[in-house]
Formats: sequence, structure tokens, C-alpha cells
Amino acid sequence: MKTSVAIYPGTFDPVTNGHLDLIGRGEKMFDRVIVAVLKNVEKEPLFTVQERVEMLREVTKQWEAVEVDVFDGLLVEYARKRGAGVILRGIRAISDYEYELQMALMNRKLEPQLETVFMLPGESYSYLSAKLVREIAHLGGPLTGLVPPIVEQRLRSKIT
Ligand code: PNS
Repeated sequence: MKTSVAIYPGTFDPVTNGHLDLIGRGEKMFDRVIVAVLKNVEKEPLFTVQERVEMLREVTKQWEAVEVDVFDGLLVEYARKRGAGVILRGIRAISDYEYELQMALMNRKLEPQLETVFMLPGESYSYLSAKLVREIAHLGGPLTGLVPPIVEQRLRSKIT
């Protein structure tokens, strides 16, 4: 019997309710979802990889089939190593499409067996991004409904 393993890769700096919505949808579709946090030495993130992983593990603990892991290097290599056949990505609006298409086609060129599956998050999250969340947090604005409460607490203590 085939087991469908999907990798949901990203920066998750920090995880938002939009990411969680997508993980929940993916968890219903695939046998296993691996949320893979990119260890990117070039970017200067607000949260360390360890902190991002801790938050993701806490907010996904209700889903047995969801695992949180860290990767570096090529995503297709990581997918091969983990035995995943699908890369899961969210598209919020048409503005996401060009970048996502470019990545999906490049990943297909690198590894033709790997499929990218795009899912739409709930429309109430279509304007939500981790970048805007960080900006609102820096400016002391309200974060209710944008991130899980434990992420809001972490943001407040990180920024004050
Ligand atoms: O949340 P993000 O920042 O949009 O995620 C981007 C991510 C992590 C999916 C992308 O940068 C990635 O896959 N990086 C790994 C390196 C790689 O495989 N690059 C070639 C992609 S075509």
C-alpha cells in the first residue's frame, strides 16, 4: 500500500494561523505531513530555528500525522531522504503564484518524481504573512486571530 508523505517547507518566522490552516488541510489529505523549517544562514530571522521548531511542535501537537523537522540544502534532496512524494505549498493570492510556479517548476526539473501540490488557505488568511505579523509585533499592534496565543506571547517577549 502506498503511503503519501507530504513536505510543507518554509521559513515559519513565526508560524501564523494561515500556516496552521494549511497544515490542517494537508493533514486531511496526506498520510503524513512533515513541516520542514529551512535553516537559512543568509536570512536574518527574528526567531532561531530552535524557537520556530518549538512553536510549531506546540501548535501542531493535536495532529499525530504531523511532524516538525529542520532541513538545509536542496529541498528535493531532503524530500528524497524523507521518502516524500509531494511538496505542499499554500497560495494566498495571485501575487504568490509567480514565485511559487518558478519554485515548483525548478523543483520538478531537479526531481521529476516529486509533485508540488498547492492548497488555498481559508480566505480570512489570504492577507496574512509572517512578515506583516513581525511588523505589527514590532509596532505594538494587536495580533489576535493572526497567530496562536503562544506565538503571540513569544513575539511580545522577543520584541519588548
Ligand atoms: O516560507 P518561504 O520562505 O517562502 O519558503 C521558501 C522555501 C524554504 C520553500 C524555499 O526557499 C526552499 O525550498 N529552499 C531550499 C533550497 C532549495 O531547494 N532551493 C531551490 C528551490 S527551487
